[in-house]
Amino acid sequence: MLKKINVKDARLGMYLHEICGSWMEHPFWKKSFELTDAKDLKTLLECGIKEMWIDTEKGLDAMPGTQGQTREESRENIESSLQQAAVSVAIPIEPVSMREEVENARKIHNKAKDAVTLMFQEARMGKAIQLDEVSTLVDEINQSITRNPEAFLSLSRLKTKDNYTYLHSVAVCALMIALGKQMGMDELLLKDLGMSGLLHDVGKMVIPDEVLNKPGKLTDQEFDQVKSHPLRGWELLKGSEGVCEMALDVCLHHHERVDGKGYPDRLNGETMSLYAKMGAICDVYDAITSVRSYKSGWEPAEAIRKMAEWQEGHFDAKVFHAFVKTIGIYPSGTLVKLKSTRLAVVIEQSGSSLITPIVKVFFSTKANAHINPEIIDLSKTIDSIVNAEDPQKWGFDLKKLTGIQAAT
Ligand SMILES: [Fe+2]
Ligand SMILES: [Fe+2]
Repeated sequence: MLKKINVKDARLGMYLHEICGSWMEHPFWKKSFELTDAKDLKTLLECGIKEMWIDTEKGLDAMPGTQGQTREESRENIESSLQQAAVSVAIPIEPVSMREEVENARKIHNKAKDAVTLMFQEARMGKAIQLDEVSTLVDEINQSITRNPEAFLSLSRLKTKDNYTYLHSVAVCALMIALGKQMGMDELLLKDLGMSGLLHDVGKMVIPDEVLNKPGKLTDQEFDQVKSHPLRGWELLKGSEGVCEMALDVCLHHHERVDGKGYPDRLNGETMSLYAKMGAICDVYDAITSVRSYKSGWEPAEAIRKMAEWQEGHFDAKVFHAFVKTIGIYPSGTLVKLKSTRLAVVIEQSGSSLITPIVKVFFSTKANAHINPEIIDLSKTIDSIVNAEDPQKWGFDLKKLTGIQAAT
C-alpha cells in the first residue's frame, strides 16, 4: 500500500515510492528505490523536502503512531484545495480561440527560441547580455497571451534535451506574464515579469552541459555547481546594461522557498518578494511539465495536483491560488473521464468555472472503443468531469487530438 509520510519519519529499509517535491531540489535520479544507504537517508532528511510516498508492500512501514495519508485521503485533500483556489474565477472570454492563435504563437515561439539561444550563447562566451531583441519578443509574447494564453503555453511545454534551457526560459517568461495578468498587474510590470522569466536561468550558461544534462545521479559537488546558477546569473545580469531590478531579484531568488529551505539566501515567506514567489512557482511548473528527450514530463493537470500536494512550505499559498486560476484545474489538452463514463480531451476553457471547460468526447469506456468525436460545452450540459486521467495509461496521442505539435 502507498502511504504518504513526513520525511522526518523516514528510516532505512523503507521503499521510497516518490518524493513529494520537484527533482530540482534533490540529487536522486531514480523515482523509486529502497532506502538502504545511510548517506541517501541523510541527503533525504537534509534536502528540504517535507513529505514522501512509501510502498509498505516493498519495504518497511512507518513506526506505529506515525502520521500518514493514504492515496485516497491525499487525493481528496488536493481536489478540495484546488476547488477552493478556483472559486469565483472570472474566465475572460478570449478575443481569439486557441486554434486560431496557435499558428501565430508558433511563429513567435520559434523567433523567441532563436533569440534566446543567441543571447544565452553570448553569455556563455562571457559577453554582456544584449536585451534589445528579446525586449520586442517579450511584447509579442505578451500580445499572444492576451489573445489566448493557452496557445503559447501549450507550445512552451515541448522541449528537447538540447534546447531545454532556452525554451524553459521562454516558457517561464510566458507563465510569468500570464500569472501577472491573472493578478491584475499593469503593462509595465508585465514587461518586467516577462524579462525576469526569460533571464532567470541565465546563470546555467556557466555550468558545463555534462553536469546540466546529466541523466544520472549528481555528485554532491555537481549538485552544488547546479545550485550556484542563481548567483552566477545575478552576477552576469548585474554586469549588463538595462536589466530591471525585478529580473535581478527573480534570477537570484527563484529557488527560494517560503519555509526558508530554499537557496541561495534561505529567504522565507516574509523576506521573498512577490516576484520571486511568482518565479518560484512558474519555474517548477514548467520544469515538471516539460517534455524532454529522456523524460515525458507530467500533464498540466497532473502537475497542478503535484504542486498542490507540495505547496505547503514550498510556495506562497495566495500566489499558488492565482497560478491555479491561470493554468486551470483541467487545462486544455487534459484527458478527462466524464460522469457518462466517456473519455474526452479538454479543448478550451469556457463559462465562469474552471470545472466546466469545452471538451471533445471520443471514447467510450463501457464499450472500450472509440466513438464519433463530439464537442461539448460542459457549462451547458448535465454531464460533468469525474477526474483527470493519465493518457499514457490509455495510450492516446492527445497532441493529435488537440492539434498541438512540437516546435521545429
Ligand atoms: Fe533555476
Ligand atoms: Fe528555471
